[in-house]
Amino acid sequence: MNDANTPGSRIIGLGHHQPARIMTNDDLAAIVDTNDEWIRTRTGIRTRHIASEADTVTSMAIEAGRAAIADAGIDPAEIDQVFVASTSATDRAPYTAGRVAVALGLTAGPAPIDINTACSGFEYALALADQSIRLGSATTSLVIASEKISGLVDWTDRSTCVLIGDAAGAAVVQRSDTAEIGPVSWGSVPHLLEAVLVDGDPQRFSQEGRSIYRWAITEAEGHARRVVEKAGMTMEEIQVLAFHQANLRIIEPLAKALGGDTKFVITDVQESGNTSAASVPLGLSKAWAAGELPEGVPALLFGFGGGFAHAGQVVRTPVRRG
Ligand code: ACO
Repeated sequence: MNDANTPGSRIIGLGHHQPARIMTNDDLAAIVDTNDEWIRTRTGIRTRHIASEADTVTSMAIEAGRAAIADAGIDPAEIDQVFVASTSATDRAPYTAGRVAVALGLTAGPAPIDINTACSGFEYALALADQSIRLGSATTSLVIASEKISGLVDWTDRSTCVLIGDAAGAAVVQRSDTAEIGPVSWGSVPHLLEAVLVDGDPQRFSQEGRSIYRWAITEAEGHARRVVEKAGMTMEEIQVLAFHQANLRIIEPLAKALGGDTKFVITDVQESGNTSAASVPLGLSKAWAAGELPEGVPALLFGFGGGFAHAGQVVRTPVRRG
């Protein structure tokens, strides 16, 4: 047996990628019966980035991964594990993580792992990367979430097409002498198994918006508090809140219930729409790139959605290299 003696891991770099095309609420009003006021008051969304045909889950994952590696300032040959979380990936074999590893010239031949737990996929992948490093199966992981949900929506259905956006977000996670990624708290909600669907032929995204909203308003706070308890911390110590960016009408009350008035709260849904698994790393990376993300402080990550899976962990935000 390998004696697992690696204390833990930490995030040393962040990156993201969004397609060039920005779609406003007025742009949507030109194709379906909707309007800016309805979308903003129900969801908080003002704009979203929408992929062109050339933008794929894989191409966006490559760009986000490249940016995270540059941000971390490491030799790509150090990466011995690549995760890609996605619910919209179409490649079966080679799968997305394998294609990303080759495209990025990761010459160590890293373990390529695709996972799909929909909107909470990044938090699942981050947990598995941390556990792999703790157990000695990897030293440096590239953890990416990439989504092209625009390819899965019915653009004549106003109840879904106004909600989504395309993007990828990524983090480089490395072995550390101190544990800067806390234990994951994860699970699922059996009665909501089919509340968010990607099914049919052609495959289409649909959801029971009200059931999800009700769960998020009544149950998500308890799950988020359990994440912090698992990390052995108090909510007062948490300085950043990064929830799945489904809807501002969920993010704001959840943040308020958790003392968000004195914390940095990610609200990127307003600019990027709901990008499923990509939403948490995208929001973190955008704030990091803008110089707004507090450095070296405890951040609560919490994802939930399709499946109906949820997962979260407390991580220490990166610190800029000198
Ligand atoms: N523009 C204008 N009117 C609309 C639109 C639109 N884009 N979409 C729906 N409507 C209309 C409906 O037709 C309905 O009209 P009616 O009363 O005449 O029948 C009315 O608005 C209300 O429709 P609901 O679907 O009941 O709208 P609701 O108030 O529930 O808001 C929303 C929908 C925003 C999705 C809400 O349910 C919600 O916030 N849900 C949370 C779930 C979520 O954010 N999911 C994201 C994807 S899944 C995930 O990431 C976990």
